[in-house]
Amino acid sequence: MVEKDGPPPEPLPDQVTVEVKACALNFYDIYIRQGLSPDTQPPCTLGLECAGVVVAVGEEVDTVKPGDHVAVHCPKGGACAEMITVGVDSVLVVPPEMSFDVAASFTVTYLTAYFTVFHMGGLREGGSVLIHSAAGGVGWAATQLAKTVPQVTVFGTASQHKHQAIKDNGVDFPIHYDQDYETEVLKQRPQGVSLVLDNLSGTDFTKSQNLLEPLGKVVLIGARSMVGKEQRNLWQVFKVWWDTKNVTPYSLVMNNHSIAGFNLNELRNKDPANFNRGWKKILEMITAKKLQPRIDSVWKFENIIEASKQISERKNIGKVIIKP
Ligand SMILES: NC(=O)c1ccc[n+]([C@@H]2O[C@H](COP(=O)([O-])OP(=O)(O)OC[C@H]3O[C@@H](n4cnc5c(N)ncnc54)[C@H](OP(=O)(O)O)[C@@H]3O)[C@@H](O)[C@H]2O)c1
Repeated sequence: MVEKDGPPPEPLPDQVTVEVKACALNFYDIYIRQGLSPDTQPPCTLGLECAGVVVAVGEEVDTVKPGDHVAVHCPKGGACAEMITVGVDSVLVVPPEMSFDVAASFTVTYLTAYFTVFHMGGLREGGSVLIHSAAGGVGWAATQLAKTVPQVTVFGTASQHKHQAIKDNGVDFPIHYDQDYETEVLKQRPQGVSLVLDNLSGTDFTKSQNLLEPLGKVVLIGARSMVGKEQRNLWQVFKVWWDTKNVTPYSLVMNNHSIAGFNLNELRNKDPANFNRGWKKILEMITAKKLQPRIDSVWKFENIIEASKQISERKNIGKVIIKP
């Protein structure tokens, strides 16, 4: 982490400057802290998303004005700041009645869940999904989105003390870590599930494939198994990477299975229009109260290490917010 002082940078013609009111932490910030992100290496300013009030706009900007409340997406980090200047395509105007905590918290998790459950996962009526860390940011969002499809069954893993919360959020079958999730899912649904959101990788990637019903799909979204304790373990990183290579096209054909991979930042780079449509759709659903982001806890900037431990020590239910 680095602290930088100084006046806010002047916006270029296509940029906006935002006075930040709240930032949200993500599991990706843990990868960054451990040097596992190819794009962003420490020392750096953490934070993929924040929310605040627009204080200045560049001369070409006509979609946002000073005083607007905005959610901000910072794919390369840097959101944990008091002032931030970004391209206008990195902000989304939110209604003034939305709290800054909520506005800071939905971009990364709900968009990841939205594209993986619907666009890639193609979840249909009567289908079923296995969601890992169902009490975490993405897991919370994915459960709610999956439950907008009629008669969908949700299996969710989480630490046991979070089970009541994930049930209340829509998980039908909570599974804890003393249980083997493969056995538990197949006990309830012997044919397997339609969709697995795999944020673990490694040997779990093989388990995900074993859990699919015909026409089922695994969407690989993360490599959480690479993260053990506070310090990076290179052997663990290598082992997880190696074990995730186990896909055989022949078995995909013979089982009618699909494997997909998703990366929100790359989607935004390569298909910004699609990213933006998803962003607006999620905002619309939150504003209409069809989705309810959950805030786990709110911290001050000076306690950012403690705030990030809330995630790495597996305590959070929903999003961890930090404030200037
Ligand atoms: N592909 C993409 O574009 C994309 C975008 C966003 C997120 N993701 C991925 O989605 C996953 C979830 O991200 P998130 O930001 O929503 O995080 P999160 O789920 O809120 O992460 C925290 C939770 O993960 C669980 N956990 C399991 N193993 C852990 C470990 N080894 N260390 C710490 N926590 C562990 C803990 O809950 P339990 O103990 O209850 O399981 C913890 O409370 C991550 O793998 C992330 O990289 C991918």
